[in-house]
Amino acid sequence: MSQELWTNVDDYINSIAIGTDAALEAASAAAVAAQLPPISVTPAYGKLLHLMVRAQGAQRILEIGTLAGYSTIWLARAVPPGGRVVTLESNERHAGIARANIERAGLTGRIEIRLGSALVTLPQLAAEQQPPFDFTFVDADRTNLAEYFDWAVTLSHPGSVIIVDNVVRKGGVIDASSEDPNVKGVRRFNDRLKADTRVTATMMQTVSAKGHDGFAMALVL
Ligand code: SAH
Ligand code: DHB
Ligand code: MG
Repeated sequence: MSQELWTNVDDYINSIAIGTDAALEAASAAAVAAQLPPISVTPAYGKLLHLMVRAQGAQRILEIGTLAGYSTIWLARAVPPGGRVVTLESNERHAGIARANIERAGLTGRIEIRLGSALVTLPQLAAEQQPPFDFTFVDADRTNLAEYFDWAVTLSHPGSVIIVDNVVRKGGVIDASSEDPNVKGVRRFNDRLKADTRVTATMMQTVSAKGHDGFAMALVL
């Protein structure tokens, strides 16, 4: 009903809080040209992630779901010199487009794209015994969301922040009988989150140019 209004307000927010940004606009344009699904975070959401990382002083960032690297660029710009973003992507074509966008943004040195299913690359990361991640953005498929979150907590430390995208699905999340695999995946994650004593969390529903959705935020205890 109000999609046009939400989009217009997003345009207004962009004019106030974002302005023009050559690297991000080039990344979006490349995603459109490659006909990738239009599911990158919005500019305002990207900047929210960026500001969260800076406010927290996070240096080591994990992202699950790279697509064209749009959110990755926002995250990588927020870390200080010596900081690092590890981003996990299963689709080789998406990873290639992201690599070019990241190069164009001048951020190749601080971003590592790991190709493969996150169900495989997450345990590999854990086995490497790297220092924990300060901030994780979970934005891949929803069917394995509960598993991704579990790994994100494992790879965190007390004080780490985990953001999980797309947990409202146009309100579909409240339908306990939904057969939509995305809704089922989110509901399975939410039920686990409710019982997870390792974190304290909230969920925010959002409206934007990308419709009605929302994100969860968890603080690792
Ligand atoms: N974070 C991006 C959008 C990610 S879209 C942004 O906001 O700019 C979701 C991505 O997750 C897609 O590129 C998809 O290929 C990837 N993905 C889907 N299943 C995956 C899996 N099992 N492991 C890793 N990545 C996966
Ligand atoms: C979808 C996936 C996303 O990550 C997103 O932000 C919006 C929509 C989707 O698969 O429909
Ligand atoms: Mg998303």
